[in-house]
Amino acid sequence: MNYKTILDQSSSLLANIKVKSPRLDTELLLAKSLKISRENLLLNLKSKIKTKEHKRFNFLIEKRRKKMPVAYILGYKDFWKSKFFINNHVLIPRPETELIVEESLNFLPKHKSKRIMDIGTGSGCIIISLLKERPCSSGVGLDISKNAIKIAKFNAKIQHIDNRLKFINSDVDKYKGGKYDLIVSNPPYIEKIKISRLEEDVRKFEPKLALDGGYSGCSIIRRVIEKSSYLLKRNGNLILEIGNEQAYSVSKTLKRFGFYINKVSKDLSKKDRCIVCTKY
Ligand SMILES: C[S@@+](CC[C@H](N)C(=O)[O-])C[C@H]1O[C@@H](n2cnc3c(N)ncnc32)[C@H](O)[C@@H]1O
Repeated sequence: MNYKTILDQSSSLLANIKVKSPRLDTELLLAKSLKISRENLLLNLKSKIKTKEHKRFNFLIEKRRKKMPVAYILGYKDFWKSKFFINNHVLIPRPETELIVEESLNFLPKHKSKRIMDIGTGSGCIIISLLKERPCSSGVGLDISKNAIKIAKFNAKIQHIDNRLKFINSDVDKYKGGKYDLIVSNPPYIEKIKISRLEEDVRKFEPKLALDGGYSGCSIIRRVIEKSSYLLKRNGNLILEIGNEQAYSVSKTLKRFGFYINKVSKDLSKKDRCIVCTKY
């Protein structure tokens, strides 16, 4: 069987069970099975697949049929300018989270040394991306999940910034550290009741710890704000990802804890996604 026939058959199989991007997913999984790039695959559609490669592909496509996200099957996800290794102990880095990186860079002059903290670091994608852009700065990534910390440490090591980045396994409430110029966080912010209504890919495979924001969705956000109000230097900045209906309530909490709201920025779907603020 040639690559094109396999792609046609398997992508229609995924389309039938309502997978969102069946063709792309199939191409990525076939490329992985063949150990070639997707571009290379697309340039060689008439090539014939070998039995061993076909078996490997069937094994991967079966996982996708069970709705395991492609990023977990591949074991990595591209974020900002790098590839991040992931497994099901960490949230898959999302494109909208790149907003935090974009906004943060405005507060980090290129040749100055700043101290940055990332609360709920997961794969480490935010803080690692920031430190790669700002070689004079250093940081701390904090997460309640021991398994997430292992992945974040691995990512920092292979991206050669482990000498400027420390990871701490702790609940945000229990952390007592130094002072920071910038705190970033993409905390869990989904209302508990809405978790069962999420897409199967997310609900069944992504860690609950990374999604569950308690009954109002804002319980961890509130704790991040309270902790940041102690950890930030005067005039330091807090940059938070939020749910699209949380800007009003999160702004109220921020003001209560002594923050000035600089702006609320929107994601590509024009939804409120990120709050930028300054500690008085
Ligand atoms: C939405 S994920 C974000 C992961 C990563 N920063 C990203 O943007 O892809 C939230 C992270 O917060 C961590 N977390 C949840 N509750 C926490 C708590 N009380 N203290 C510290 N980290 C917590 C989770 O383990 C998870 O890794």
